[in-house]
Amino acid sequence: MMKILVTGGAGYIGSHTLIEIINAGFEPVVYDNLSNSSPVAIERVEQIVGQNINFIKGDILDKELLRKVFAEHTFFAVIHFAGLKAVGESVSKPLKYYQNNVIGTINVLEVMKEFGVKNFIFSSSATVYGNPRSLPIYESFERSCTNPYGQSKLMIEYVLEDVCRAQVDFNAISLRYFNPIGADESGTIGEDPSDIPNNLMPYISQVAVGRLEKLSVFGDDYDTIDGTGVRDYIHVVDLAKGHLKALEYLANHKQTGFLPINLGTGHGTSVLQLVNAFIKTTGQKVPYVIAPRRVGDIASCYANADKAKTLLGWVAQYDIERMCIDTWRWQSNNPNGYN
Ligand code: NAD
Ligand code: UFG
Repeated sequence: MMKILVTGGAGYIGSHTLIEIINAGFEPVVYDNLSNSSPVAIERVEQIVGQNINFIKGDILDKELLRKVFAEHTFFAVIHFAGLKAVGESVSKPLKYYQNNVIGTINVLEVMKEFGVKNFIFSSSATVYGNPRSLPIYESFERSCTNPYGQSKLMIEYVLEDVCRAQVDFNAISLRYFNPIGADESGTIGEDPSDIPNNLMPYISQVAVGRLEKLSVFGDDYDTIDGTGVRDYIHVVDLAKGHLKALEYLANHKQTGFLPINLGTGHGTSVLQLVNAFIKTTGQKVPYVIAPRRVGDIASCYANADKAKTLLGWVAQYDIERMCIDTWRWQSNNPNGYN
């Protein structure tokens, strides 16, 4: 069985990815400092897959512990989810983000090099495209960023490109996620923001469950179908399957170099379209008000996802309705998340 180090595996996307790779016969070793996740997520995944998971509570800033883990296990690849992701916080605490995301990733890469591990799958983001010159967004578009979080993702991509150039047998697939929402169909794992949610879908579902009073729709005067912001929402289970496809691609290709790949559906959905789909599929009330634009937001963002299809044989399967139903199953069964 191929062993995979999964950093950040207790988090939202990581926990869903564990299910896919375990069911496909890979053996994950999860490495997470639990700074933004709960150990209960791992227990729930164990229940879903019916087996125990090797979990290590550890920080990617702790290089000695990383070395110890690499000495104990022979890894085929690292799937690197560990990172901080709150855009607003990154603006007020840039050093924390560069330290954790950039230095942390360099630590992982250095220890991989020491132990001869050559396959890396990175959690990148559509944020590396900045404000795209046109839509849909192709992987070849130029990259730019407007906040330290995005900048940390971009810097890591540059590091990976240079490492791949310097070491020809090192492979790095940079998966550029669009907007992940939804949850496993069991309703036992899902997104559980530790604070008031920054992102739209967890905000909607917390309003619906009564934890928050009303949604603020940030701007209704964008040049979009109804004036509200348009994004490419993708079911987290589809995203998780994309990681499995990337692992399988690495298992079948000796030399890929730096490979950026969009993981999106190719379809844009506006804020109000998502709110209305949620209301319609769940029967819940979601009171909202129109508020000013949020600083740093762009009007529209959606992927061209052809590269993932051609190279990985991956296409997103789930539609917006399913994303809403699965989000609501998780939120209504776990009104306070993992607590
Ligand atoms: P998450 O916060 O749920 O998961 C990240 C995990 O990493 C958490 O479990 C956290 O405890 C862990 N972690 C953070 N710093 C660590 C450190 N120093 N050492 C060890 N573990 C650490 O977030 P997520 O939504 O699952 O995102 C996973 C990755 O995907 C992140 O790198 C994020 O930036 C990226 N991403 C997320 C989105 C999104 O909208 N959710 C979009 C694009 C990219
Ligand atoms: N929105 C609201 N009200 C809210 C929250 C969001 O109207 O309370 C709107 C935003 O203005 C935007 C849309 O909903 O039009 C989506 O916003 P999210 O915050 O859910 O997602 P973003 O596209 O802004 O951000 C996401 C990730 C970031 C990543 C970025 C770019 O959260 O980490 O995509 O890929 F950097």
